[in-house]
Amino acid sequence: MRIFVYPGSFDPVTNGHLDIIDRAAKLCDKLIVAVLKNRSKTPAFTMEERVSFLEQVLDGRGNVEVIPFSGLLVDFMKEHNATTVIKGLRAVSDFEYEFQMALLNKNLAPEVETLFMMTNIKYSYLSSSAVRELASYGGNIRDLVPEKIVDQIYDKLKAY
Ligand code: PNS
Repeated sequence: MRIFVYPGSFDPVTNGHLDIIDRAAKLCDKLIVAVLKNRSKTPAFTMEERVSFLEQVLDGRGNVEVIPFSGLLVDFMKEHNATTVIKGLRAVSDFEYEFQMALLNKNLAPEVETLFMMTNIKYSYLSSSAVRELASYGGNIRDLVPEKIVDQIYDKLKAY
């Protein structure tokens, strides 16, 4: 069984993430969306909220599972018998950071591959931080995140 992992903060999940999830899920038997717990920065949404958003919008996708994780990604990969890390690339600006992470992970666990997918051009400008900023000022996020979670994002962030 071919198990891939798509790691991230998902603070919150965006249409850009969903596009990568749908495309990556076709390349493997099981895709684990791994939601990072221990960021140095405190996330805007709690782990429960980030996981709940993902579960709400992934409804009906049979081979995708959402699992929180803390610690090293390579340890999570081993624990779940996963072969491949999926990362989305939006622009050249993503490259340097992702290149470093892929090489660090390769050094820690040579058997783990990192597979990069180019984002859909529609979402190349999109990030969770842009969604948070827009939502906090009441800007329109309806094309940027799944409809199901739009109001939940406003409810939390407009109160700031
Ligand atoms: O959505 P993000 O915040 O860009 O995701 C970053 C993530 C979760 C992929 C990255 O921070 C990560 O893999 N963290 C786990 C810790 C780890 O394994 N570090 C070593 C590689 S740099």
